[in-house]
Amino acid sequence: MSNAFIEMLKNRRTIYNLGDSLSVSHDHISQLVKDAVKHSPSSFNSQTSRVVILFGEQHKKLWDLTKETLRAIVPAGSFAATEQKIDSFAAGAGSILFFEDLNVVKGLQEKFAAYADNFPIWSEQSSGMAQLAVWSALAEENIGASLQHYNPLIDNFVAKEWHIPEHWLLRAQMVFGSINAPAGDKDFMDDEQRFRIYQ
Ligand SMILES: Cc1cc2nc3c(=O)[nH]c(=O)nc-3n(C[C@H](O)[C@H](O)[C@H](O)COP(=O)(O)O)c2cc1C
Repeated sequence: MSNAFIEMLKNRRTIYNLGDSLSVSHDHISQLVKDAVKHSPSSFNSQTSRVVILFGEQHKKLWDLTKETLRAIVPAGSFAATEQKIDSFAAGAGSILFFEDLNVVKGLQEKFAAYADNFPIWSEQSSGMAQLAVWSALAEENIGASLQHYNPLIDNFVAKEWHIPEHWLLRAQMVFGSINAPAGDKDFMDDEQRFRIYQ
């Protein structure tokens, strides 16, 4: 079966070996991210996702500060591996920080009390949808990316450094850049174990 969207989904992979040379402008990437997030769905069309894009030196600052944060808690003997990993992120061209606006979630909980327990869950789901859209859109431009989760460890310095409102909750960091090495093969479990079709 051939379907353009499925091909795009297949084209999105986790790329760890990233470089900082980009064949498109920062403006182009920023617009791509905006469009991908804007056109992703959210519960009640609440548009809870917030995004900060860091390019170049700002991106490097994110990973330098992450490294220093980790240095304080990772045992010295195993820090070399941590450092190598963080340096590989810093070697990319930029990072996209995904947040969810907790004020909007709280407002929805108050307004629609019957669904109160669901709004935080739907907020997380909306964030995941926005992340997939951005990741896939980048892949279409031949820009590699990986998804990282150093929150909540890095929340304080991120908030301070980039003036993040206290009601924005950091959910993920997407590192992107030129693709130095493609992803390897991926294993898939049997469809029979995942899908049931009745007709
Ligand atoms: C919700 C979620 C959380 C993930 N967290 C991380 C992470 O913290 N670090 C990381 O390197 N990869 C992370 N990944 C990437 C997965 O490991 C990766 O998507 C998976 O192994 C499939 O490989 P693919 O992305 O190449 O298709 C995450 C993916 C998802 C969907």
